[in-house]
Amino acid sequence: MKKNIAVLFGGQSPEHEISLKSAEFILKNLDLSRYTPYAIGIEKTTGFWYLQPTLTFPLHINTAPENLVSLLPDHKLYHVHSQQISAAIDVVFPVLHGPKGEDGTIQGLLALLDLPFVGADCLGSAIGMDKDVSKRLLREAGISVVPFETIRRHEYEGIDLQALIKKLGLPCFVKPANMGSSYGISKAHTETELREALSLAFEYDTKILVESAIVGRELECAVIGNDLPQATNPCEVIVSREYYDFIAKYDDNGGTEFKVVAPIDANLQEQIKALAFKTYTCLDCCGFARIDFFLAQDGTLYVNELNTIPGFTAMSMFPRMWEQAGVKGPALVAQLIDYALEAFDHAQNLKV
Ligand SMILES: Nc1ncnc2c1ncn2[C@@H]1O[C@H](COP(=O)(O)OP(=O)(O)O)[C@@H](O)[C@H]1O
Ligand SMILES: [Mg+2]
Repeated sequence: MKKNIAVLFGGQSPEHEISLKSAEFILKNLDLSRYTPYAIGIEKTTGFWYLQPTLTFPLHINTAPENLVSLLPDHKLYHVHSQQISAAIDVVFPVLHGPKGEDGTIQGLLALLDLPFVGADCLGSAIGMDKDVSKRLLREAGISVVPFETIRRHEYEGIDLQALIKKLGLPCFVKPANMGSSYGISKAHTETELREALSLAFEYDTKILVESAIVGRELECAVIGNDLPQATNPCEVIVSREYYDFIAKYDDNGGTEFKVVAPIDANLQEQIKALAFKTYTCLDCCGFARIDFFLAQDGTLYVNELNTIPGFTAMSMFPRMWEQAGVKGPALVAQLIDYALEAFDHAQNLKV
């Protein structure tokens, strides 16, 4: 029996357009002999869900009224316009990045509907998205994180910038607690820039982080699985801009060099993998994640962040790392769907 897979894409975060690119990879790599795709675009401003009647790439969301759907508690899609009901969905693959997609909100909705879905559950997604909470948990587990201070909206007015600079140094990084793709991030070199950076970050979240700037290398590790996850060898991202900003991430001309296998010794490779597993468990992850590290010049290995729905764009490292490890796109996507079913089964057997 073919499984009906709902692929959710778009969404209401600034990362909407990145999601369209990631979803293209997932849809192109769904093995049609095993799965029937239901591509559902979530419109950016309204949040309405539109079932796409045909797929053309690059993806866009066809918002014709007859495509408007909602998901019913019996897992069927309700077509609002025609009042018809489609076949039941077996597994949902949220290919959404950022708030209202990667932060536990959609995951909470799917959990309420008793639907298996790919990736971390509600809690793991919320933790992974929140750079303040995740760093505090990592620190508590003895994992090195970059020195940081968290600032909440109501603390902004009275903030002592001099004290902050004394503590974290200049330049420093300012970032929204809940965001991705480098949206709202600045590298501040002066007190004036720091003030501007705080103001920008607060446009994206009510809680922000200021961090010491690490000089070193950026390494990433791709992890899949539930209780006994597997990891790829780390890759390296060599950024030629000032830091790995939006252009460096997604623009072909951003000058970023990607080394699918980082040129590091076997010892360090193993150390990073071990740290990736520890981070994955510490942050209550399941299904998949990409864990990003800074290797400082003094040799300290910091966990920068864990992404619970890593990018699948043409420039994204997660699928490329698995391909290098011998797991091609269709096998990877099938594996992620299997992990979703496995996690769902485990939860089903509980007495709650
Ligand atoms: N503390 C830091 N030290 C050095 N570079 C940083 C630091 N924080 C962020 N950066 C740079 O900014 C990029 C994006 O920051 P990150 O925290 O990963 O946010 P996002 O979730 O948007 O990817 C990093 O990949 C890195 O290049
Ligand atoms: Mg990042």
